[in-house]
Amino acid sequence: MTKFKRTLITSALPYANGPVHIGHLAGVYVPADIYARYLRLKGEDVLFIGGSDEHGVPITIRAKKEGTTPQAVVDYYHKLIKKSFEEFGISFDVYSRTSSKTHHDMASNFFKTLYDKGEFIEQTSEQYYDEEACQFLADRYITGECPHCHNENAYGDQCEKCGTSLSPMELINPKSAISGSKPVLRETKHWYLPLDKHEAWLRQWILEEHKEWRPNVYGQCKSWLDLGLLPRAVSRDLDWGIPLPIPNTEGKVLYVWFDAPIGYISNTKELCDANPELGKWETWWKDDSTRIVHFIGKDNIVFHCIVFPAMLKAEGSFVLPDNVPSNEFLNLEGDKISTSRNWAVWLNEYLVDFPGKQDVLRYVLTANAPETKDNDFTWKDFQMRNNSELVAIYGNFINRALVLVQKYFDGIVPALDELTDYDRATLKEFGDVKTQLEQLLDNFKFRDAQKEAMNLARIGNKYLADTEAWKVAKTDMVRTGTILHIGLQIAANLAIAFEPFLPFSSAKLRSMLNLETFSWNDLGRFDLLKVGAKLGKVELLFEKIEDADVEAQRQKLLATKKTNELDVFKPTAIKAATTIEDFDKMDIRVATVLECTKVPKTDKLLQFKLDDGMGGRTILSGIAQSYPEPEKLVGMQVCFIANFPARKLKGIDSEGMILSAVDADGNFVLVSPNKTVKNGVSVG
Ligand code: 2FM
Ligand code: ZN
Repeated sequence: MTKFKRTLITSALPYANGPVHIGHLAGVYVPADIYARYLRLKGEDVLFIGGSDEHGVPITIRAKKEGTTPQAVVDYYHKLIKKSFEEFGISFDVYSRTSSKTHHDMASNFFKTLYDKGEFIEQTSEQYYDEEACQFLADRYITGECPHCHNENAYGDQCEKCGTSLSPMELINPKSAISGSKPVLRETKHWYLPLDKHEAWLRQWILEEHKEWRPNVYGQCKSWLDLGLLPRAVSRDLDWGIPLPIPNTEGKVLYVWFDAPIGYISNTKELCDANPELGKWETWWKDDSTRIVHFIGKDNIVFHCIVFPAMLKAEGSFVLPDNVPSNEFLNLEGDKISTSRNWAVWLNEYLVDFPGKQDVLRYVLTANAPETKDNDFTWKDFQMRNNSELVAIYGNFINRALVLVQKYFDGIVPALDELTDYDRATLKEFGDVKTQLEQLLDNFKFRDAQKEAMNLARIGNKYLADTEAWKVAKTDMVRTGTILHIGLQIAANLAIAFEPFLPFSSAKLRSMLNLETFSWNDLGRFDLLKVGAKLGKVELLFEKIEDADVEAQRQKLLATKKTNELDVFKPTAIKAATTIEDFDKMDIRVATVLECTKVPKTDKLLQFKLDDGMGGRTILSGIAQSYPEPEKLVGMQVCFIANFPARKLKGIDSEGMILSAVDADGNFVLVSPNKTVKNGVSVG
């Protein structure tokens, strides 16, 4: 008998500096959601905790780049990410954020407790400081020449060309990635968690007591432990984050990886405080009858299996995680998913292109889940799994069963008469399903579990095809009723078995079957629908996806390959407020294109000769790839900034800047007045 009475499921808190993509969903949120739904359906006591990770250097850099504040960045993305999760049915009990007051208090207190207990060591060291940006530089924000392969664009933590791990001090000619200036060394004091002191119990706890962890997780922990652990700084010099709660530490905050996992605790507190019936948050974190399971991606393993447990142990009153089912990575069409290269399928965009098809993506991502190794998502496979599995097997079976009941029994569950051997064999196959599925789900084998559920649909489909109710109906309505009765009970079982994986389709199916109450424990039963009960309205469970739909997606991706250095496709936070005076400084006007040609020996530049109402001017614009036939632009009116600094490009003087937007495929689109106006008039 298990000692656990309740399960707390956490899923990695995504950084609130970009939207979420299929890699996030496949790696962390879909598996965590399947697990949470499964346990809830079994009637277990479970909480599923999520939230946004709103601190860290990248958020401050993004804010700088967009001319706005870190708070505006996280406000924007927190909302967007939360909405995407809701839309995909990720059933968090709470989705909060690390900029909340509850979290600031929780993380500060946690640090303070460790500080007071003497669990940290203090160390002063020299670190690079950007005198122009007035800030210390995180390793990633220092670039320079690699001392090994002499790549000039190595980062302060790694050279991506030769793969060597570096420290910023090793870079030749270091440069700040923020201002481009040469950083100087300055002394600074930081607090370190001495992981070396925790090594012995961590070895015992992971390597001896948790051999059941996934091999990728266990293996990564073993490598870290075998290399020997070192003290890790838990503070940073930064003006964004949770201020260190100790005197004389102005300008210092908690390191984002110190506060983020505490976010799981803060969010639990927020949830329990608002819902006293869930019990105290402490019960979920400090009672050893609670089982904690962290769902994460592989780049988070060390923090969840080593650093966070060491923090919890140092604090002394918390339980440690029971399992950390981490996935490997999902690739996209053979290439690593990359936010900066825009090589991703963004959840918000997917739903615009495939409205209502959340379950299709959930299904495909689980079918290809990177549980044991990196896996690849391709649009062809997406289409194939939809058309030949969801539509042809599951959807087809449900539709056939329900339509036949409509046709022959007026939508009323028919009675069961004598069973044939084939009927009995079919029922028997369902008998063991519950145990089989449970074994897989309990061991975090979601991919195989979903396959098993699809096998049930296959059995149903085969049963209806073999028994041919539509032929039997010509002569024997009693037998027809028995066949369809069994078909309907199989359908009800499928609604339950698929609920953790495909919650939207299960809800739809339940409403078609009028199956109101249901639980995991009903799985394998054949009396879920009562004889004489009326079914609901029959609808298609899944629809075919056409070649053109997936081809459009592939083209959209390929287009981003051409322009991948541009960071303009993601929605961005609104920039900091401007002033009328600032706006007035911009002299935006309208002109007509007189000539437009490609600048020889360049890929991107177009040379525009404009009638600007003031004697004419030439402007170069880097939009050639979006306008392969530039001569067609002659006669069109465009908007340009007349007082933009003149510059020479490829030996040609360019006097201004032409305005354009970017479409969903990454193409530039010139901005033009929607009615002809006089050349030279101002825009404002
Ligand atoms: O890797 C990431 O996206 C981190 N923001 C995950 C944090 S998980 C937890 F510790 F909050
Ligand atoms: Zn190198």
